Amino acid sequence: MTEGINMAEVINIVHCGISEVGKYLKEGNSIVSRVFVVCDRNVRRLAERIGVEADGIFELDATEGNKDFSTVVEIDRWLMEQGADRNALVLGIGGGITTDMTGFAASVYKRGVRFAFIPTTLLSQVDAAIGGKNGVNLDSYKNMIGVIRQPEAVFICPESLETLPYRQIVSGASELLKTFIIDNSKGLYEEAVKTLSAIRQAGGDISGYSQSLNSLIAEAAMIKAGIAGRDPFEKGERRLLNLGHTFAHAIEKLSGENIPHGEAVSIGIVLAARLAGKLGLAETALSDRLEADFKACGMSVLCPFEVGELTGAMRKDKKAEGNIIHFILPSGIGDVSVKDMTPVEATRLLQE
Ligand SMILES: NC(=O)c1ccc[n+]([C@@H]2O[C@H](COP(=O)([O-])OP(=O)(O)OC[C@H]3O[C@@H](n4cnc5c(N)ncnc54)[C@H](O)[C@@H]3O)[C@@H](O)[C@H]2O)c1
Ligand SMILES: [Zn+2]
Repeated sequence: MTEGINMAEVINIVHCGISEVGKYLKEGNSIVSRVFVVCDRNVRRLAERIGVEADGIFELDATEGNKDFSTVVEIDRWLMEQGADRNALVLGIGGGITTDMTGFAASVYKRGVRFAFIPTTLLSQVDAAIGGKNGVNLDSYKNMIGVIRQPEAVFICPESLETLPYRQIVSGASELLKTFIIDNSKGLYEEAVKTLSAIRQAGGDISGYSQSLNSLIAEAAMIKAGIAGRDPFEKGERRLLNLGHTFAHAIEKLSGENIPHGEAVSIGIVLAARLAGKLGLAETALSDRLEADFKACGMSVLCPFEVGELTGAMRKDKKAEGNIIHFILPSGIGDVSVKDMTPVEATRLLQE
């Protein structure tokens, strides 16, 4: 382990200043011959601060429309033109769009070269960059093509959030709180609500809260890595990470993708808690509590559609197995379970 760098054991999450990334790459992995950076244009300046000169920098526009196979081919063609060999390491710097594409492009280049990430959004630090899912969209179908392959390392660097707009913080907040609703063994859900509401009261300025935010990020990333490590192919425990997501995907689809993922997830978690209440799996107070906490954190809670409208979109969810959907339902903070139901059964109960 390199001195001064807090390397989470077993899993490959490294908490360090951004200028230490180069040192880790060179000292920790002596057989990495060259480092190629794939970088979101909006965080281009971070690529200059990694403490080592990259052998090349590929800039991309981080939009869902651009997250497709043709961009992956562009990245791989660029790697080939740069003469990247099998010992090359591809470093993705950006949010989930960038890390998903970088991981995929590196996984298929020369049948797979090494890759690492510096996630630069709250969402990617606690979710997208952790767990080994890499991929791109196919037509209007999200993440339809991809591979499961772990990055060499994920560097979580506090500086990378400095320029992140508040709306993106709120988007990541849903996944952060989701993680602690799944596993609250350290009581961090309450901590996270406290920190996120304080940030909201500070007008979205995270500068006074970076220490508490960073430790929450570290814990959430560890929880996600632990779950993904135990169940990489989503046969059991990893399903829990879909808390709120069946409803969220339906809401995103119905909104014509105008409601961002994070906003849809917080609404979806409240709906999941309400459904748990209807099934007698949770007190009704749980959904009220989540709603109040989420509001205090600046997150969305109100579903803009009639619940019945969600049924059709839920049926088409890519995680549906025939008619059945594995709904993830909270019975309390830190206590969630899987309940198999059809979308029709779920929406009927919610309408009662
Ligand atoms: N692989 C997984 O397990 C997984 C999990 C969840 C989400 N995802 C994917 O992640 C993507 C969403 O990722 P996201 O929400 O992290 O962000 P993003 O990559 O969509 O970026 C959001 C916006 O923020 C900008 N940005 C990024 N970092 C910035 C910074 N530090 N300062 C200023 N602007 C910055 C980007 O340019 C972009 O405009 C989706 O495509 C989703 O499918 C993947
Ligand atoms: Zn999500």
